[in-house]
Amino acid sequence: MTEFELRERDGLGRLGRLQTPHGPIDTPALLPVVHPDPKLQPIPASEIRRRFGLPAIITSSYIAWRSPELREAAEASGIHALVRFDGPVMTDSGAFQQHAYGHVEVSDDTIFAFQRRIGSDIATVLDEFVEADAPLETATQGVAVTTERARRARGLFQGILAVPVQGGLHPALRYRSAAEASEIGDVLAVGGVVGLMERYRFADLARVLIATRPALDPGAAVHLFGTGHPMTFAFGALFGVDLFDSSAYVKFARRGALMFPDGTVPIERIREPICQCSLCYEIPLPEVAELPQEERETRIAEHNLLQCAQEIFQIRQAIRDGTLWELAERRAASHPALQAGLRTAVRATRTFLPTEPESRSSFRTVGVTSGLRPAVIRFLARLGQWKAGKGPFRLRPPARLVPEQLRSIPSETRTGEEIRWECPSPIGPVPLELSELYPVGCFVGPEEFESVADREASPLDDDGLDVDGSRDFTDAWTRRQAQAIVGWSYGVDVASRIRQATVTTERSRRTGRLRWIAHDGRRFFHVGNDGFAHPTWAGGLYLRGVRPYPEMRIIADAEAVPFVEAGRSLFSRFVRGGDSTLVPGSSALVVDESDRLLAVGRLVLAPSEMGHIRRAVAVRIVAHARRPEAEPDPEPASPEPLAPLRPGER
Ligand code: GUN
Ligand code: ZN
Repeated sequence: MTEFELRERDGLGRLGRLQTPHGPIDTPALLPVVHPDPKLQPIPASEIRRRFGLPAIITSSYIAWRSPELREAAEASGIHALVRFDGPVMTDSGAFQQHAYGHVEVSDDTIFAFQRRIGSDIATVLDEFVEADAPLETATQGVAVTTERARRARGLFQGILAVPVQGGLHPALRYRSAAEASEIGDVLAVGGVVGLMERYRFADLARVLIATRPALDPGAAVHLFGTGHPMTFAFGALFGVDLFDSSAYVKFARRGALMFPDGTVPIERIREPICQCSLCYEIPLPEVAELPQEERETRIAEHNLLQCAQEIFQIRQAIRDGTLWELAERRAASHPALQAGLRTAVRATRTFLPTEPESRSSFRTVGVTSGLRPAVIRFLARLGQWKAGKGPFRLRPPARLVPEQLRSIPSETRTGEEIRWECPSPIGPVPLELSELYPVGCFVGPEEFESVADREASPLDDDGLDVDGSRDFTDAWTRRQAQAIVGWSYGVDVASRIRQATVTTERSRRTGRLRWIAHDGRRFFHVGNDGFAHPTWAGGLYLRGVRPYPEMRIIADAEAVPFVEAGRSLFSRFVRGGDSTLVPGSSALVVDESDRLLAVGRLVLAPSEMGHIRRAVAVRIVAHARRPEAEPDPEPASPEPLAPLRPGER
C-alpha cells in the first residue's frame, strides 16, 4: 500500500505528497488529461511539466487499448514512452467512455491487466459509471460491481490502485461505496459527477461530497474525476480533494472558450487584452482571436492549462495561509451555481468540524456564506454552552474595551458577577471577555473600514473599534477575561480554580491584548493572536492534574517517548489514542501510556486521522520540560495590515 503524506492543512483541505514509481506528486495537483497518441495532443505531454509546472498527467488506457497501433506501442515500450511523459502517469479505465458512448467493449480484467503491463503509475479499476440521476437500484448495482472489481484488482496488484467511488445522488450509497473503496484503494476517486459539473449542479456535487467525505480513509489520496474548470478547484479542495483531472482545457479550447478562475469568456467576445498570463502577454488575446483555427485552438488550450495550473498554486498557498474558505468563497462569488454549492457546504457543518482548526490567523468576510463557516457555527455552539449556567446577559455596544467606557461602568458592576457585558460582533452579540477569541477577535469585515460616521449610522456598531494602545484595564476586568478564556478552552471548573489562586496577567504594551496568564507567579498560559489560552509546560502539568484522563491527552507510543520529551514532533503512526474532541490547532497534553506528561503541543491532525494518515506530524510540540514556555506568536501590527490588492483581485 502506498502512503500519502500530509504536510499542511486547512480544514479538510490539505497539502500532501503521493510517491509514485516515477516521482512524487505534490497535492492538491491537477493531472491534465492527455491523449495517448502524441499526434493528438494539442499541448505535447513532454512540455507539461516544464511549461506549466504540473508534475503528473492522466491518460486513458481504454483509448490506447482500443487502437491496435497504440496498444502495440504501449505494450512494447510502456505508457510513458507512448505518451512522451517521464513523470507520474495515472491511467483511467474506460468508465468515462461508458458515460459518453453508453458502453465499453472491454472486461475489467483485460483493461486492468493492460494498465499493469504498460507500467501505469496509478492504475484505475474499471468502474460502472453511475449517472447522477440513476435510480437507487441501478446505483446500488453499479457500486456492487465496482467494489467487486476493485477487490479482484487489489488481489493482483501491489502498485498504486485508484478505486472509484460511485453511488449517484444516494447519500447512503455514496457513503458505502467510499467505505468499501477505502478498504481497498490508495487513491479514492469520486466519480459519476461530470454530468453534475457540466450542468452546474454544484449543490448536488456538494451533496455527493458531503455524503462521501466521512467514509474516505484520511490516509488515502482523494481524486475527483472530471473537475476541469479552475472555478471549481477551490470548491473541491475545501472538501479535501487532492487530485483533479481535466480535459476541459482542450475541450473548451475547441469551442474557443477561455477559462479563468472566475468564469469562462468566449474568444469571439474578446476586444481587450484581458489576460496578461505569460502566453497572452506574448500574443495579446485580441490577436489570438484572429489566428488561424488550429493555432488559435492550441493557444487557448495553453492559456486554459496555465490558468488551471495557477489556480492549483493559489489553492496550495491558501492552504498554507489558512485562507481556503476565503478563496472558495471568492470563486463562488463568480457564479450563483457555485454559491448554491457553497451554501449546501456550510449547512453541512458536521462534515467539516472534526478537522476545522481551532483558529486561523485571520477571518475575513467575503460573501454571504462567510458568517456561516464552520468556525463561526462552532463558536456560536460553544457560546451557547458557555452561557448556560451563567448570569443574565445584557446587550451593550462596545466592541472592544476602551478605558473611558470601562471607567464609566459603576464600580459595583465592575467586579460584580451578575452583569454580563456583550458586544455586537459580525456574528452576533458576544460576551466582552470572549471578544478577542477567533473568529471574533480577528474578524475582518467591512465594518472595520467604515468611518465613524458610517458606523454611527448603523444600529449595531459603535465607536469602540479603534485599537487604543494606551488603554488600561482594571484588575477585576482582566481577571474576568482570563477566567473566561481559560474556561472557554479548559472548562469552567478549571477557570474557577484559577480564579481562587493568585492570578497575574501580562498585557501587550502595544496592543493592550492579554498575553500571559500566570498562576502563583508561573506563566501557565500564553494567549495567542487567536485569543486562545495555550498552556506552557507548567500549565500543562497543571491541566494534567485537573483534567481527568484521557481529556486533553494524546497518548504517545513508548517508541516515540524520548523524541517527544526532547521536543520533536509526534508522528501519526506513534499515536496510541487520545481525546477525540480535540481538533487541529488545539493544545494538547502529550503523555505516555501511564499518563506521564511528555510535552505540550498543538494538533496538526484530527484525532480521527491519527494512525490513519501514516506519514504526517500528528502533534507539533511547543513546550516540554527543557523548553517550558511556548514561543509566543509575533504580535500583529495594529490594526492588522491588509495585503495590497493585486490587479484583478476583488
Ligand atoms: N472520468 C470522469 N468520470 C469518471 C468516472 O466516474 N469513472 C472513471 N473511471 N473515470 C471518469
Ligand atoms: Zn492568458
